[in-house]
Amino acid sequence: MLSLSRTLVQGLLALLPFQHLHQPSTMADLDPTTQTNYKQVSTENVAFEWLVDFDTKIISGSATHTLKIKEDEPKEVIFDTLDLDIQEATVAGNNATFELKPKHEVMGSALHISLPSGLKEGSTTTVTITYKTSKHSTALQWLAKEQTQGKRFPFLFSQCQPIYARSLAPLQDTPSNKITYDAKVTSVLPALLSAIRASPPADGPAHDGKEIGKDLVTYTYRQPVPIPSYLLAIAVGDLRYRPFPQFEDKQWKTGVWAEPEGIEQAYWEFSEDTARFLAEEEKVVSEYRFGVYDLLVLPPSFPYGGMENACLTFLTPTLVTGDRALVDVVVHELTHSWFGNGITHAHASHFWLNEGWTTYMERLLQEYLHSPAVRGFQYIIGEKALKDSLRGYEKTPKYQRLIIDFEYGEDPDVAYSSIPYEKGANLILHLERTVGGLDVFVPYIRDYVKTFSGKSITTWEWKDHLYTWFEKNGGAEKIKALDSVDWNAWFYGEGIDLPVKMEYDSTLAKEAYGLAGRWDAARSVEDVGRLHFSESDVEKMDTNQIIAFLERLSTYSALPSNLTTHLGTVYKLSSTPNAEIRFRFYEIALADPSSPAAQTFADEAAKWVVGNDDTGIIKGRMKFCRPTFRGIAKVNKTLAIDTFKPNKSAFHPIAGQDLGLAKHDA
Ligand code: BES
Ligand code: ZN
Repeated sequence: MLSLSRTLVQGLLALLPFQHLHQPSTMADLDPTTQTNYKQVSTENVAFEWLVDFDTKIISGSATHTLKIKEDEPKEVIFDTLDLDIQEATVAGNNATFELKPKHEVMGSALHISLPSGLKEGSTTTVTITYKTSKHSTALQWLAKEQTQGKRFPFLFSQCQPIYARSLAPLQDTPSNKITYDAKVTSVLPALLSAIRASPPADGPAHDGKEIGKDLVTYTYRQPVPIPSYLLAIAVGDLRYRPFPQFEDKQWKTGVWAEPEGIEQAYWEFSEDTARFLAEEEKVVSEYRFGVYDLLVLPPSFPYGGMENACLTFLTPTLVTGDRALVDVVVHELTHSWFGNGITHAHASHFWLNEGWTTYMERLLQEYLHSPAVRGFQYIIGEKALKDSLRGYEKTPKYQRLIIDFEYGEDPDVAYSSIPYEKGANLILHLERTVGGLDVFVPYIRDYVKTFSGKSITTWEWKDHLYTWFEKNGGAEKIKALDSVDWNAWFYGEGIDLPVKMEYDSTLAKEAYGLAGRWDAARSVEDVGRLHFSESDVEKMDTNQIIAFLERLSTYSALPSNLTTHLGTVYKLSSTPNAEIRFRFYEIALADPSSPAAQTFADEAAKWVVGNDDTGIIKGRMKFCRPTFRGIAKVNKTLAIDTFKPNKSAFHPIAGQDLGLAKHDA
């Protein structure tokens, strides 16, 4: 009922004129993915005490919430949990009655804990929950030692976004509420958290000088800046730290964590740019608030390119290519420190505020660090991802929207795609151009960050502020410009076209597109020996240009087999260590499932994706493994299944979905 009326109300509101001024937020801003009563009682701080046990693959311990009472006499506090084993609850030190409700498939089991009577609005109390995670905890992946680079010690890492933090600890798992946290984590391997380490020192001897893999050491952390629950993170393994050089007179510190076998390469890949990017972002926006910005290179099953966990960005090891070609991901993740970790979307329906703003800012930074051409080129590359995503949701057009009105209990991961990134970034770029360019827009961005940093907001609060700022700084002319924007089409539009035809600087795309055209034309030549392609065609191109070349080529009809094979060999695409390039080559090679080339390359792609080749590592990043498995499945379903099945445990549980294999096969 509630969710039905929510959708209805928002639909009707969208039709009203002047909706930018007073979008009522009574129902619309309730988080549809949490079962908690966070509007009545909310967590201010959590203190975790955890023991990490690699034998049983369980974290056990407690979470102590400091609760703020927001309405007189709440009778209970409700937490989100998912596959947790709850043992005991106390309120202000006294045993409390609690009830764990039946499991909702997406949201998990609500944990109701009774509160004593007499609690007044504005007061605080504490609740301690003693509990254990389970082997089903979706946030956690426990890796056997064989699945690490060093192959000597097991590994554990978490991925909490969007709503898996509740399988790590009982929480109000909503980005609408921000918390500080303390953690004491005891483990036989070094433990990292998304917070500032208090002890032992990060740059001291590994594992406090104790025997790694054998002795228990307690790591203490504190996150003093309030963060949404999805930024909680833990990684435990044989990890080493290398600080990056101090940057000018900055108060913050940066560095990189990785397994000892990979720390040198990781340091080389990221040490030149990380602090420089962070300093540039400070120049454009405002000061970095989190004190520490470290990177952690994870084992290959990490399902994302990067994840902006507070103080500690998690990265896929496929970024370590040896030529710094993929450091852009770091620009994206550190930009979240302002857009996402600073200003946070109130809930899943407004997710685009995080990713759209971050993508826009990441590309603006590229303009300042490199050139306007580089910025334009990023939008051009994004266009293909956007179109692919929009096409993928043709049967569920609701997910083609920028603002998605999630039903209560609907899974936000089902809607995860490039759409919030690309539609969002394009909307903001369109606004920048509409109000008169960067000279007026950058001061607005600064005020946006200043106004909402530390808060969680909806699209309506963002838009109200936009209007208010331009009213004050420009007046009627700017408001008229803003009113010319088709807000309804941007927010709720479906289909595969943006509301506005966007133009981008295409300087860098030209050469790539020219080359794609030459290959397209070459299909009529039977003897590849007569073609004049050579490695020098791509020698001067950077990774993004090669990507643009391949993406353009993939929009033409499938190449004949002999040409596909020639393409793979002449530019070494079928053997490149750069996964961004390699998976796009396979996309082209498998395009015509009945061709002989597709048969051959399906075999190669299958070996590559599970690491049965010279790379030796699985391609656990979903961006790579999902399209590759889907491509293989179209050519040879049995091969896809036989490749996935024995390697299933090597992939992250959330990566195993959507591979083009039937549910029971996967
Ligand atoms: N926060 C996202 C990753 C994410 C989003 C995880 C939603 C779970 C749910 C992260 O910042 C991100 O966007 N990563 C991208 C990298 C990028 C450069 C666009 C990725 O992993 O591909
Ligand atoms: Zn992001």
